[in-house]
Amino acid sequence: MVETKLLYPLYTLTSAAEHHSTRFERPTAIGAFNVNFYSQAVGILKGLEIARAPGIIQASKGACDFQGSPLEIQKMTLSAMKDLNHEYPICLHLDHGNKDSCLQCIYSGFSSVMIDASTKKREEIRNGNKVIIEEKTPLEENIEATKEIVKAAHKSGISVEGEIGVLRGKEGDKESSVEIYASPEEIFEYGIRSKLDIIAPACGTCHGPIKEFKKLEEGLLEGARQMFYEEGIEMPFCLHGSSTIPPEMVAEFMKYGGKIKKASGVPMSAIKRAIELGVRKVNIDSDLRMGITTVFRKYFQEHQGIQNTNEILKGIYDILYGNKEAKDPKSGKILVNAEVLDPRVYLVDVPKELLRKSPKGSCLEEVMSLVEAQVSNHVASLVYQFGSVGLTIDRGLTLEAMASKYNK
Ligand code: G3H
Ligand code: 13P
Ligand code: ZN
Repeated sequence: MVETKLLYPLYTLTSAAEHHSTRFERPTAIGAFNVNFYSQAVGILKGLEIARAPGIIQASKGACDFQGSPLEIQKMTLSAMKDLNHEYPICLHLDHGNKDSCLQCIYSGFSSVMIDASTKKREEIRNGNKVIIEEKTPLEENIEATKEIVKAAHKSGISVEGEIGVLRGKEGDKESSVEIYASPEEIFEYGIRSKLDIIAPACGTCHGPIKEFKKLEEGLLEGARQMFYEEGIEMPFCLHGSSTIPPEMVAEFMKYGGKIKKASGVPMSAIKRAIELGVRKVNIDSDLRMGITTVFRKYFQEHQGIQNTNEILKGIYDILYGNKEAKDPKSGKILVNAEVLDPRVYLVDVPKELLRKSPKGSCLEEVMSLVEAQVSNHVASLVYQFGSVGLTIDRGLTLEAMASKYNK
């Protein structure tokens, strides 16, 4: 087991704040923002500070791989909190984990994990080509996989999120072109039998910046919520794929040379409706990716020739502007440079020391301070809409207190 000494306490999803609707007599949700590097973490924390809100910083398996390990993500997050003297409750969560990554994060000082066992991949040969088929995991299997992680996590007071149903689009290293909804009965059974803390049911949203969102499956959320309610349980839900992709953000991305067709997000009205129906965690990644990449593009445009003053900046510039191949960090697939949104694609050769701590005094100092400002403004404006502003009357239960509560 990795020895982790926390410089700052981290909180579980449920105790990061008492986010039950009764608290403020209105429904609220906590923002969960994906992180890949230090300045992004600082931007998220500053946004939460502006809003005086608790928050969830979440890292996918891809983010952990990018930084080297979950422990690097944990250390990076804690040093960002320490550098800012951050005062509001933070939960450090694994996004879309499998069994191995959940266990690694449990032993690396995360305060929450997501086990995503709702789908599985199968390889098939069609016309001589290998194709990956995404399938819904049978309910029983999903329950068993989730239960195993709940057992390991709750021992240390760590909370667990689980998924049911299939979201369209990319999730971690899986991709699906169809969406499959679980019934309220299945969602209820999944929650009751696995004893997890928060459920992410597929309910109309999808990952990525091209959502073509049609409608929220209100009946599904309402039905499941009612079934839990009748058992005296207020089960929180998580809404994945919630980026709002504001048209102004898209226009700015394109103005500085980025290309994207049909970008669109989830309307804020749908997110608010989901919060009314029991969503207490709202996941945002693509908005941050697009905002950050626009900052880099704008920086190079407004500082003509700056890439020629420094090898690191040149490496980033060459990938953004097509002088060097852009590769998907997970699949290795070659991407169209102007379409790149994921910062890990063009930060690939940046020395990790500059991405794990404050870039002060380095060639990235100026651009990263612009990144922090962009991320913090967006995070603050979302958190205001989610209703979690000022939600930190107390700091919630520590992991030790949660462990005794779970293991009573
Ligand atoms: O699942 C989606 C999140 O946006 C994380 O994405 O696995 O590329 O880091 P990632
Ligand atoms: P977006 O792609 O909409 O930002 O979704 C993020 C997410 O659900 C992370 O798990
Ligand atoms: Zn997700």
